[in-house]
Amino acid sequence: MPQPSSSAISRTANATAVVGLQWGDEGKGKLVDLLAADHDATVRYNGGANAGHTVVVRGQKYAMHLVPSGILYPGKLAVIGNGVVVDPESLIGEIDGLAARGVDASGLVISSRAHAVMPYHKQEDEFRESLLKDGAAAGSELGTTKRGIGPAYADKAQRSGAVRMGDLVRPAVLREKLDIACRFKGTLLASSPGAKEGRDPGAIAERMLAAGKRLGPSIRDTTYLLHDLIREGKRVLFEGGNATLLDVDHGTYPYVTSSACTALGIAQGTGVPAKAIGRIIGVMKAYTTRVGRGPMPTELLDAIGNGIRERGREYGTTTGRPRRVGWLDLVAVRYSAMINGATGLCVNMMDVLAGIDEIKLCTAYRVDGATTDRFIPDGYDLARAEPVYRSVPGYSTDVRAVRHRRDLPHAARAYLDLIEEFVGVPIDIVSVGPDRAETILD
Ligand code: IMP
Repeated sequence: MPQPSSSAISRTANATAVVGLQWGDEGKGKLVDLLAADHDATVRYNGGANAGHTVVVRGQKYAMHLVPSGILYPGKLAVIGNGVVVDPESLIGEIDGLAARGVDASGLVISSRAHAVMPYHKQEDEFRESLLKDGAAAGSELGTTKRGIGPAYADKAQRSGAVRMGDLVRPAVLREKLDIACRFKGTLLASSPGAKEGRDPGAIAERMLAAGKRLGPSIRDTTYLLHDLIREGKRVLFEGGNATLLDVDHGTYPYVTSSACTALGIAQGTGVPAKAIGRIIGVMKAYTTRVGRGPMPTELLDAIGNGIRERGREYGTTTGRPRRVGWLDLVAVRYSAMINGATGLCVNMMDVLAGIDEIKLCTAYRVDGATTDRFIPDGYDLARAEPVYRSVPGYSTDVRAVRHRRDLPHAARAYLDLIEEFVGVPIDIVSVGPDRAETILD
């Protein structure tokens, strides 16, 4: 069998990426679900159970955290790549939840090199947040999802004692790693209120070997698998978790997550070179939301913001927290489209803005008396930015039944034109409601 070489892969329309251009929750799940119908495999490459991708099919709502959203199509592959951090027990819970609703998860494949989130990672996440909230540096917590994401990625970088999914079916290696890890965690978490079993190597090994028994048949090398698929001309869809402004390098650090969330993370998080990806769709809402702490220049703390939150059901898929809501920040979106190399945009939640008389869009920032139209990818500096708005007329007609862009109310079309012009990337898809069918493709 010929071995794949780097020259075996060239840019192909067969590989598509879906990435979030804001602070997450842009509606990537719905788009991935829509596109998955035409793809042979859906692939997650970053993040973990902190992500929450919601898909609504014929009125039935599915909330996916670790399982790629494409799982809802029987017979297709759903791949969890090496860049993801997997909580084995929550993954099993998710698979069981899907099975109870008749969804067959047998197409799920998990990279043996994806790192595993252990009980002590969740304790550490919780403990660090509580110290930051109430301790000496009170009020400096990040507002994480407490899913152990940061500690798991930190241990991956630390190396010693870090558990990978392949270790769940290697009892001796698993135990050796847990012995090392628990020695460190025992010290670190000595005064944490978390249950001691969560840092006991024997107790954890037992739980993880049980998880390994369940997940073992799905754990394998995914890099060759993906290269083989691409060489065979199969269509592969990469599903970004979290979003660009939460990226550990390109987001509003330190108010970010711990992974590479942009399209740039696909290569590292799967082993598939960047040049393989022909289409990169940047997903955005018609307004802005954010969960957790950190600067958000266009945040609305008034009745308009509350109205958008209620109409848009803006409550976290993962934590249930109310999301912060604000006007569309075009400066941020244009920056994110640039970082990702977006070839097209998907604008979601157009229905939620319907009924507002006057809509505002942020087209620049005022910082220290100067105006800039460049994003400020630093949590501290961005906190000083004041939005400069452009106002446009709102649209009052309910748009949920509209299926063609030309049939949208004039003001809604003008709003989309303005986004396209400012960002410099065409809008390929517009969403006017949560259901698969409530989508405009032309
Ligand atoms: P962590 O990823 O749990 O460490 O959380 C870090 C920050 O990223 C927090 O502000 C979270 O609310 C935010 N975050 C992480 N994942 C998502 C997501 O998928 N959508 C929205 N916010 C997220």
